[in-house]
Amino acid sequence: MFMGNKYKVLAGLLIGCWGWMAASRAPSTLQAGVPYPENFRSWTLIKTAVIEKGNPAFAHWGGFHHIYANEKAMAGYRTGRFADGSVIVFDVLEAVEKNNTLEEGERRIVDVMVRDTVRYAATGGWGFEEFNGASKTERLVGDSGKSCFGCHRVREGNGFVFSGYRE
Ligand code: HEC
Repeated sequence: MFMGNKYKVLAGLLIGCWGWMAASRAPSTLQAGVPYPENFRSWTLIKTAVIEKGNPAFAHWGGFHHIYANEKAMAGYRTGRFADGSVIVFDVLEAVEKNNTLEEGERRIVDVMVRDTVRYAATGGWGFEEFNGASKTERLVGDSGKSCFGCHRVREGNGFVFSGYRE
């Protein structure tokens, strides 16, 4: 009887522990999505453009955008082949007119492409995500990047990347 209870307690502890471990592991499993690209502004600047009123992309991407690449993505820009671990960021900021100068305003969105040919096989080997404004957690892509890829797929011959690097 005593032993029986002891085993029950032990079993309970084990199940409790397993439950706790499973629960504490859950977030990392859920975060299979594209991580926020910390410190991307210290990466290589690929290009800058301003999307103005009248451009069909204005409502969503209007204002400045700067494109940044991490080191692996830089190798991709040079060779045309992007290795797993490449990350490219499309940083969108308001364009504010001040004293005949166009200045960067508030951040509007941060679009990210992360190369992982296994995890994101369904979207050309790129994971797509869009972070809202200055938020590092508010994600706007709800269809696993299919809508983003719908446009980027036309660049298949260029690793699904539109921009090019100029020395
Ligand atoms: C309507 C077509 C279209 C859609 C939809 C689209 N993109 Fe793009 N994307 C572009 C174009 C065009 C460029 C290049 C802009 C430039 O060169 O200034 C670009 C550039 C980028 C870049 C920089 C790398 C590159 O390809 O030059 C990233 C990162 C990016 N987009 C992410 C996204 C994400 C994330 C989504 C979905 C939320 C998305 N894009 C949806 C057209 C699109």
